[in-house]
Amino acid sequence: MQFEIWTKGLADLAIDCVAVGAYDDGELTPEAKVLDLRCREKISRLLKRGDFTAKAGETWLLADLEGVRADRVLLIGLGARSQNAGELTRKAWRRAVSAALSAATRTRCGALGLALPRPAAKLLPDERLGRAVAEITGHTLYRVNDLKSAKKPRAHALARVVVAGTAKAAPALKKGFAQGSALAGGSALMRNLANLPGNVCTPSYLARTAQDLAKSYKSLRVKVLGLPEIKREKMGCFLAVTQGSEEPPRFLVIEHKHPRAKGAPVVLVGKGITFDTGGISLKDPPTMDEMKFDMSGAACVIGTMKAVAELNLPLNVVGLVAACENMPDGRSIKPGDIVTSSAGLTVEILNTDAEGRLILCDALHYARRFKPDVVIDLATLTGAIVVALGVHHTGVFSNTDALARELVDCGASVDDRAWHMPLTEEYGEQLKSNFADMANVAGRDGGSITAAAFLAKYTGGLTWAHLDIAGTAYQGGAGKGSTGRPSAMLFEYLLRRATAR
Ligand code: BES
Ligand code: MN
Ligand code: ZN
Repeated sequence: MQFEIWTKGLADLAIDCVAVGAYDDGELTPEAKVLDLRCREKISRLLKRGDFTAKAGETWLLADLEGVRADRVLLIGLGARSQNAGELTRKAWRRAVSAALSAATRTRCGALGLALPRPAAKLLPDERLGRAVAEITGHTLYRVNDLKSAKKPRAHALARVVVAGTAKAAPALKKGFAQGSALAGGSALMRNLANLPGNVCTPSYLARTAQDLAKSYKSLRVKVLGLPEIKREKMGCFLAVTQGSEEPPRFLVIEHKHPRAKGAPVVLVGKGITFDTGGISLKDPPTMDEMKFDMSGAACVIGTMKAVAELNLPLNVVGLVAACENMPDGRSIKPGDIVTSSAGLTVEILNTDAEGRLILCDALHYARRFKPDVVIDLATLTGAIVVALGVHHTGVFSNTDALARELVDCGASVDDRAWHMPLTEEYGEQLKSNFADMANVAGRDGGSITAAAFLAKYTGGLTWAHLDIAGTAYQGGAGKGSTGRPSAMLFEYLLRRATAR
């Protein structure tokens, strides 16, 4: 997709399609008014007649308007004007842009001009506006990578998106387009990986994907540990989870290095359970298929590494992925089994379904060798975070409040929201075991916090945050599929670091 800026008058833009907005009280935006005058008020008459009611997200396509140089005019409903007060809220703007793009893909339009009002610059500065346009485009045009045998419908024709902007804003917008395109590419990779079924997207598949990335990007180095190497690392908890599976585990080390990057790396750690049956503590059947998404953290790390490499950010970033299945089998771990993690701590596995923390504790310990500045893990770790926050906020846990606040702020600024959860000593005390250094579960209360407290036992001395993405990384129901979250939040965090130094 190509993104362009046009600085001249809208009415004279000869383009396949131009999108303009209207409010549900019948008021046209200034851009729409210009076109309306050119075509002898055909647009306002349409609204007066009530055929197009301009509800938020509603669209109406007009073709070959006399006096208008664009082939098509796409009317976009912006909803109530009072809620937007002249400038759009970010939410209304995102919705309008997405509606315009998806309506354009239902035509044979090759170039779409976006002549919509924008949110105030303090809510969405030019660079972030450019990024959001490219990001929303990638997100809206994404088609789920299904394995249906029927012939795929004809691809849309959209190849160019043109945004109105001043010459002064152009450099920032262009920078934003590049950021947004990189983010969209990473997020699409995440979604593709997460959407694939467990019998296709195995630990080895994740490893091959990472190795392919290293072929495409000079800045990336990938190392893959197989079973012998994982044993050599004495990752007893990771090994305990994988031992019931026929599918070989993989541990991925993806390094992005930049010659101008100063300082210690950011290490990203992803939970890569390619299918979570629960193991001997077997899950209930109804939505068990959704446990193919239990590698969303890993997918997000891999996607983010792609985005970082695409922009060649002046940072050192390391992506670690622990990938295996959690299966019931004659060789599976059993409740009560005690294993030793690579950090040397013993763990009594009271519930084999609390496997994410087991693979992560060994991955987090591995992160220490990079002497990281910051470690961030991403995991569909607990059902309890969905009970606590629903599907709207990612749960942020950290041993460093400033880091948690920074991540929450990053999420808020890019509409990929997160919420700071508590993580005090008491929760860790609940993991007491009579037989080992700790148990892997602590009962139902505060389940997402005790899970984080388990990880906290392995991150002493590190500046660390844990993102529980069980509610945000994918959707169930009719729109079942990966959301790409929290790629945007994480990318914002890395971009800020890249510009801060
Ligand atoms: N992968 C699940 C968490 C999960 C649940 C993600 C629902 C998405 C939706 C994780 O491995 C798990 O099973 N956690 C248990 C922990 C419990 C046994 C302490 C859970 O949340 O029930
Ligand atoms: Mn589980
Ligand atoms: Zn799991």
